Amino acid sequence: MSKIVSPSLLSANFGNLQKDLEMINRSEADWLHIDVMDGVFVPNISFGPPVLKYVAQLCTKPLDVHLMVVNPMNYLDAVKALNARIMNIHYEACTHLHRAVTQIKDAGMMAGVTLNPSTPVCMLKDIIEELDLVLLMSVNPGFGGQKFIPHTVEKVRELRELIDATGSKAVIEVDGGVNASTGALLARAGADALVAGNAVFGAENPEAVISALRAL
Ligand code: DX5
Ligand code: ZN
Repeated sequence: MSKIVSPSLLSANFGNLQKDLEMINRSEADWLHIDVMDGVFVPNISFGPPVLKYVAQLCTKPLDVHLMVVNPMNYLDAVKALNARIMNIHYEACTHLHRAVTQIKDAGMMAGVTLNPSTPVCMLKDIIEELDLVLLMSVNPGFGGQKFIPHTVEKVRELRELIDATGSKAVIEVDGGVNASTGALLARAGADALVAGNAVFGAENPEAVISALRAL
């Protein structure tokens, strides 16, 4: 089965988003990954609802929204208004994760929970059956173009075991430093979905990179 590929908008050319979105629409990309940052949860700021409104209008692919913000549930309505497929919230940003996940699902979106590199997979043990997706960070969130943290491969294996043992239907997605070689390791360990920013938008032929990642 082919991998789900979710190119990350963070690495697109913000001076000509329309051109890059047209490339995404033409490509075999499954989703578009959207990194929202608040400068508090992570030491960087990206884009917010006014920009994303137009991205959502131009993009024909399902939106995979990754909220790197404190109080992510303050944005439930804004993410829903984009008609997003997936709303990813960080484990580290949510005190009442079960309530948050239930609210995302009740809003008609897939509920994704994201783990920072230093948060162990076992923290999801009591909620894994409720989740539609787990997003494992393979870099410290906040910036594109960082180096892949190799321990993530082991975390994918552990998460695959937890999912199989519980009968959870959660999709395993990995984000950060993913390219053809790290992507192959992740795919072999049991990842279902790969986010790729620099590897796609920094390439001479982004569409070919997307197709190659899907075929891993
Ligand atoms: C990092 C973001 C990633 C980022 C990935 O905080 O969550 O989605 O765009 O970019 P690359 O693939 O370049 O590491
Ligand atoms: Zn991301």
